[in-house]
Amino acid sequence: MDRIRITGGNELRGTIPISGAKNAALPLMIASLLTSDTLTLENVPHLADVEQLLRILGNHGVDVAVNGRRERQDESYSRTINFTCRTIVDTTAPYELVSKMRASFWVIGPLLAREGQARVSLPGGCAIGTRPVDFLLDGLQALGAEIEIDGGYVNVRAPKGGLIGGRYACPKVSVGTTHVLMMAATLANGTTVIENAASEPEVVDLANCLTAMGAKISGAGTRTITIDGVTSLSGARHRVLPDRIETGTYAMAIAMAGGDVTLQGTDEALLGGALDTLRQAGASITATESGLRIVRNGNGIQAVDITTEPFPGFPTDLQAQFMALMTRASGVSSITETIFENRFMHVQELARLGAKISLSGQTARVEGVAKLKGAPVMATDLRASVSLVIAGLAAEGETMVNRIYHLDRGFERLEEKLTRCGAIVERVSG
Ligand code: EPZ
Repeated sequence: MDRIRITGGNELRGTIPISGAKNAALPLMIASLLTSDTLTLENVPHLADVEQLLRILGNHGVDVAVNGRRERQDESYSRTINFTCRTIVDTTAPYELVSKMRASFWVIGPLLAREGQARVSLPGGCAIGTRPVDFLLDGLQALGAEIEIDGGYVNVRAPKGGLIGGRYACPKVSVGTTHVLMMAATLANGTTVIENAASEPEVVDLANCLTAMGAKISGAGTRTITIDGVTSLSGARHRVLPDRIETGTYAMAIAMAGGDVTLQGTDEALLGGALDTLRQAGASITATESGLRIVRNGNGIQAVDITTEPFPGFPTDLQAQFMALMTRASGVSSITETIFENRFMHVQELARLGAKISLSGQTARVEGVAKLKGAPVMATDLRASVSLVIAGLAAEGETMVNRIYHLDRGFERLEEKLTRCGAIVERVSG
């Protein structure tokens, strides 16, 4: 199993290209199931989760051509992929595929909308929490779907004549529920209103793509989204938006290691207020023509408190990385996680590097220390893994991060991007 070895202590200087967003690319790829025409997505990142979804979509009948070729050998940063689903050949998403990646459950929306039925394995829990799908199913029921759970599968069926527009107020802001209902409602009869909808940039990106495909959607980016159903959708060409979590992660890595790096092809607006928190912690962040320049020269890191919230609040997907940064801050910070109940698995691993963190319920108290010391650590989930890399960049000596297959799910060419800025990071095979 591959590992990543980091030798800490170097500042970061140079440029890092920001990839297309994983969490936008996944629902956009799933939207290709809604039409028999070709959906072309540009700027699709090369990640394990994307490759897994390509397999899942293939199972439903989607024909995939990467950069004009049907075989997937291209590994450049940005790929253009054509998705064509002339007919849906299978409306079942099996356990073996869905259990590997939760977002694949979202195929339930387009399959139901286009074929009037679907059988999709329940995804099960994961490292960061139980992550139920009750809102998704209640929302589909509000569109007239009949739902039955049997043998670990959700069997869902639309009324004769198709889904019917309805109103669903989500009990808690949920990105996945918003994606699924938005996709399902595009082909429903009549108008659907999603209340307490997620307003994350990835939701807006999906709405923009669906609109380019002929859907009638208003309010994406606000808490109320309205969808007027249409009879069919066409193909479109759409560029996946830059990855805000990758942007925030590298911004924190630079704040941690010190230095001066430009993150190319990204935009601060995608991060809501998250980068202001980083400014308070001592980084200087400015917009440039090519992206965002992040600098921390000389001055230390200050403790700042955060609470994770839906967009535009501080994202849960940056909580672990921010905690890594706070381990070296002067002062004590308090980090509260409100989205997932078990997203503190990095705490024990950061402690192995010398961090002083105590947990009380959903809040971590981080007392900054003058130095971290390299050690072997274990990656537990995607964002937790990268928090260990960030800590390793500032730790004395060698940090070996084990189980890095988590990293490959969501960070494109991480070691290459860091190495070109002067970090000593290498992948060790076996
Ligand atoms: C998306 O997950 C992201 N995944 C997550 O990123 C991200 O952490 C999360 O949104 C929150 O921003 C993708 O986009 C592929 P939710 P999602 O539905 O949609 C509860 C990463 O590291 N809930 O917004 O699955 C749920 O348990 C990943 O890239 C229900 O109770 O998250 C959570 O507490 C991890 N019932 C809250 O809502 C439901 O039916 C928000 O979850 C659905 C959700």
